[in-house]
Amino acid sequence: MIGTGYVGLVSGTCFADLGNKVYCVDKDKSKINKLKNAISPIYEPGLEDLIRNNLRAKRLIFTNDLKKAIQDSKIIFICVGTPTKKGSNIVDLSQVYSVTKSISKYIKNYKIIVTKSTVPVTTGDQIEKIISKRVKKSLFEIVSNPEFLREGEAIRDFKYPDRIVIGSNNKKIFKKMELLYEPLIKKGAKFFCSSRKGAELIKYASNAFLATKITYINEIANLCEAADISVEDISVGMGSDARIGSRFLRAGPAYGGSCFPKDTKGLVSIAEKFKSNLSIVKSVIKSNQNRKILLTKRVSKIMNNRIKNKKVAVLGVTFKANTDDMRESSSLVLIPYLLKRGAKVSYHDPSGPKKEFDNKKNLNFVSSVNKACIGVDLIIINTEWDEFKSIDFKKVVKKSNFKIYDMRNLYNPKELKKRNIKYYSVGR
Ligand SMILES: NC(=O)c1ccc[n+]([C@@H]2O[C@H](COP(=O)([O-])OP(=O)(O)OC[C@H]3O[C@@H](n4cnc5c(N)ncnc54)[C@H](O)[C@@H]3O)[C@@H](O)[C@H]2O)c1
Repeated sequence: MIGTGYVGLVSGTCFADLGNKVYCVDKDKSKINKLKNAISPIYEPGLEDLIRNNLRAKRLIFTNDLKKAIQDSKIIFICVGTPTKKGSNIVDLSQVYSVTKSISKYIKNYKIIVTKSTVPVTTGDQIEKIISKRVKKSLFEIVSNPEFLREGEAIRDFKYPDRIVIGSNNKKIFKKMELLYEPLIKKGAKFFCSSRKGAELIKYASNAFLATKITYINEIANLCEAADISVEDISVGMGSDARIGSRFLRAGPAYGGSCFPKDTKGLVSIAEKFKSNLSIVKSVIKSNQNRKILLTKRVSKIMNNRIKNKKVAVLGVTFKANTDDMRESSSLVLIPYLLKRGAKVSYHDPSGPKKEFDNKKNLNFVSSVNKACIGVDLIIINTEWDEFKSIDFKKVVKKSNFKIYDMRNLYNPKELKKRNIKYYSVGR
């Protein structure tokens, strides 16, 4: 596994747990040093135990030595980042191509090279071209195997995937990849084979569809607020239709994270390259950007435009619960907005303090919900960690005139009204 981030580390560890010998390579020395001591550089439930067990069993090897890892492996997975190029929708493939060049230097015998990174259509062709410059075609095969795991549920998602997608232009590869994934297929995962370009597109089309579903219910939530309807009724009423499904149909903040924002943009840019106009995905991107601003402005409305010197607690700052990933989190818009308007903000996140918020005036990380909420004027629930789901607000705030803005609809508005708590949520 080249690249030991959320995808490479989880996949590598899980492949080792299935009995394979796995090298996890990263250019980041501090990451590898931590991992050698069974310390996970990321927060992912259950991951550290799995790393420890497989290190002990000597099936999992963490190293910066790319050459040895490549020469000793039959299958090489590229798992490096594919962010968006600044100021555009274009996917930055520099990490992928840099790894590709290194691989081409070290191949001495037959290798299957698999892109697990999310890459635009035809990236496999480019990788093949780069490696062909140094290596005979008979010595390698380029395969696409996009990853669908979700942060926070990554181990379960890897071990019990809905489907495993393999894209190759050589049918013989499917059998070899099926053998690798056999333990998961036996447990019920669908093994789906397509062309290499097809597999590359399946990943983008899936992520853009899920982002569309979230954005759709978020816009319906805006309508519900205006028309005094509960969006939760709509989610249940719609989601019970098997054709629609209930997942990714809960209103909340704008979608964030390391995948949906960049993959929706990436898909638009891929389509442009093929002179195809994805107007729906373009609207989704715009609507989601607007939502960050819309919900932030709602804070001002809730506070009657008096934010200066108000004490605010923000519960959860990552893009969702059960991860430490801050990429594209709505808190990166919300917290600066509050600070700019003179609020004094305490934040608590179960995954710890965030470097993005280091050394900011009037902003403090605190180690518990109770510490964050004491004496505040406003509590903003930004993510849905379990520990935010049953707070006795009056007990922790210790004063009466405070407000709650629950962006995840974790509480029952009627219950809080009964207790004379001013409570605002999303789409209801
Ligand atoms: N994060 C997710 O939930 C998720 C889910 C599915 C797919 N993906 C895709 O998987 C890919 C990786 O995502 P991620 O979130 O794991 O990224 P990440 O940024 O967490 O990890 C990438 C790792 O690659 C390493 N790296 C970069 N260049 C390298 C090189 N030349 N040699 C060795 N290591 C190198 C980096 O140091 C980093 O540790 C992306 O394409 C992403 O879109 C991510």
